[in-house]
Amino acid sequence: MRYAHIVGWGSYLPEQVLTNHDLAQMVDTTDEWILSRTGIRERRLAGEKETVTTMAFNAAARALAVADMHPARLDMIIVATSTSEHAFPSTASLVQDALGATRAGAFDLSAACSGFVYALSLAANAIKSDAIDTAVVIGTETLSRVVDWQDRATCILFGDGAGALVLKGSDVPGGVLASTLRSDGSGGDLLSLHNTQISSVPFIGTSYVNGHGPYIHMNGRQVFRFATSVVADAIEEVIKKAGLQLKDISLIVPHQANVRIIDHVAKKLKLPPEKFYLNLERYGNTSAASIPIALCEAVQEGRLHPDDTLVFVGFGGGLTWGAVVVKWDVTPPDVSAVKQRLRQARYVAMRLRSRARRLLRRFMAWVGGSPTPKARLKDADRRLEEGGEKR
Ligand code: ACO
Repeated sequence: MRYAHIVGWGSYLPEQVLTNHDLAQMVDTTDEWILSRTGIRERRLAGEKETVTTMAFNAAARALAVADMHPARLDMIIVATSTSEHAFPSTASLVQDALGATRAGAFDLSAACSGFVYALSLAANAIKSDAIDTAVVIGTETLSRVVDWQDRATCILFGDGAGALVLKGSDVPGGVLASTLRSDGSGGDLLSLHNTQISSVPFIGTSYVNGHGPYIHMNGRQVFRFATSVVADAIEEVIKKAGLQLKDISLIVPHQANVRIIDHVAKKLKLPPEKFYLNLERYGNTSAASIPIALCEAVQEGRLHPDDTLVFVGFGGGLTWGAVVVKWDVTPPDVSAVKQRLRQARYVAMRLRSRARRLLRRFMAWVGGSPTPKARLKDADRRLEEGGEKR
């Protein structure tokens, strides 16, 4: 039997802070309204040079440092995000290049705020089936770039950031014990972000402002109702799958959407609120990144102990939801400062290597006189004519 253990964790949060008081200068709202309805006080916004890729890279590099794992040992990189810069290349491929994870496959996964739980479940199952031995799963978002900053119902909720976990196969029982993933696409219109470049047919609820957008569209009340109706059941279902009971769970790390949703779930499960780890007060809803960011802070605050059993639960657009049960059995290795510095130097070398490869490709094309598409068509026409065929 193979088991998928969490051996590293890392997060990255942009420095720029946007408080509720700042928001009250931008839209018709108050700190009191936002705090009482959501539990959020402030959120982080990505700077001009920060992207989902740079944040994902930083979170993954930190997680690999905790795991004391060389990136070339990675078999798989999965990035969960709804704010990828490109349809392709995937954010995961760009992170693979930046890390110098030369042996890793890489792909993005779209399951909105449930994305991290989906990615963790897939990676763990690939390790348990012995298809791969190591993986890094990342949640990364720049939601600030897709919210309408004039819409007080949505712009108060979201923030930017990234978080990552490193998984490794082992014969020792533990790690990711069970998972459950679900979807109900009939509620797709309740929470959506339309891609206009690909489809000219607007999705129900697609929102534009003065020709700009599209922006996140959300039916807040319906999403609230959906979340409070599925999250408790998902937690109970996954715990049962793992052969455990609610009393065996030390801590639940939920997607950080709204403190009222979590209070509701806690009441439904008859659990004290302290069983749920929350940090949305400081970061808002960072979608796919919220669970790994929260987990990193829980570790930092000493909330996790060896042999604790944790549940991660996500819910969001799709509609999607899912939960994972994890046996937390890690004591991070003590990595020397010299090794850390060498690691940073290696990432700089990887950036230079990547640039050099791009230049070399262009140079080879130039030397080889690689023809333009127009010249290729002309050449094809000439050859067809010579052969007496029609194109
Ligand atoms: N400041 C002041 N008033 C506001 C604001 C604001 N920022 N936003 C809305 N209001 C007003 C509305 O206009 C409305 O006024 P009206 O009664 O005069 O019409 C009133 O407040 C009540 O509006 P509701 O939308 O009913 O407010 P509600 O109590 O439902 O709270 C909220 C809104 C916070 C969005 C809530 O519905 C919610 O949290 N829903 C879940 C959203 C969520 O978690 N989304 C993300 C999950 S999935 C994912 O992560 C992508």
